[in-house]
Amino acid sequence: MRANDWPLPFWIAHRGAGKLAPENTLAAFRLGAQYGYRAFECDVKLSSDGMPFLLHDATLERTSNGQGVAGQMNWSALSRLDAGSWHSRSYAGEALPSLDALARFVLANRHALNIEIKPTPGQELLTGQVVGREVLRLWAGSGFAPLFSSFDPLALKGAKETAPGIPRGLLLDELRPGWLGEAQGLGCRAVISNYRLMDRATIAQIHTAGMKALVYTVNEAAAAQALIADGVDGIITDAVDRFSPV
Ligand code: G3P
Ligand code: MG
Repeated sequence: MRANDWPLPFWIAHRGAGKLAPENTLAAFRLGAQYGYRAFECDVKLSSDGMPFLLHDATLERTSNGQGVAGQMNWSALSRLDAGSWHSRSYAGEALPSLDALARFVLANRHALNIEIKPTPGQELLTGQVVGREVLRLWAGSGFAPLFSSFDPLALKGAKETAPGIPRGLLLDELRPGWLGEAQGLGCRAVISNYRLMDRATIAQIHTAGMKALVYTVNEAAAAQALIADGVDGIITDAVDRFSPV
């Protein structure tokens, strides 16, 4: 991938296939792809022995049959958990994927990926550093690169240290003072905000600063249409069955 290439198409499937399959499992990414999606968002954190793997929450209870803080368990134990039964019986036994496993799936299919670095609290810098290093190894020679994103500036700093050439986006759930300068200071290529924060003026501000403006998580047609009219550069959605990415 050339340094200035932007790695994502407009439509991005959130956590694989939104709520239609157990989030952040390979089954979810397969389902999203069946709906025609060619780009996916996922949440990545570290096991206690430093393996990057997919999970949204810091704890295991909501989306697996495990208990406690996921980042305190080693990969051997995490990889044996059931991350599908909580969703529905047809996904029973679905595993928590490593980033390595997801990379094999997306690279084999030439899909784009937005890796949200979602550190276990206290591991922000380390998580960014390790995920950066792993991505360089996994995507080497592919001609593709993922986009890193995080709500946590330290995580983006870590990824910048180990993988400076992989593009970054700052996630925002509020437009806190100095947000634009913060994104610029981290060398970000994008600002990705809660869609309720993004309007025409904010998008113009981000564009003037030389960055892309993306939004999460848009599930209603009226909101998507308004954001498209305002000039947004990408939409992350759960509604893979409602929005055709073509
Ligand atoms: O990356 C966009 C979106 O996933 C951020 O929020 O909580 O769904 O990870 P969350
Ligand atoms: Mg996320």
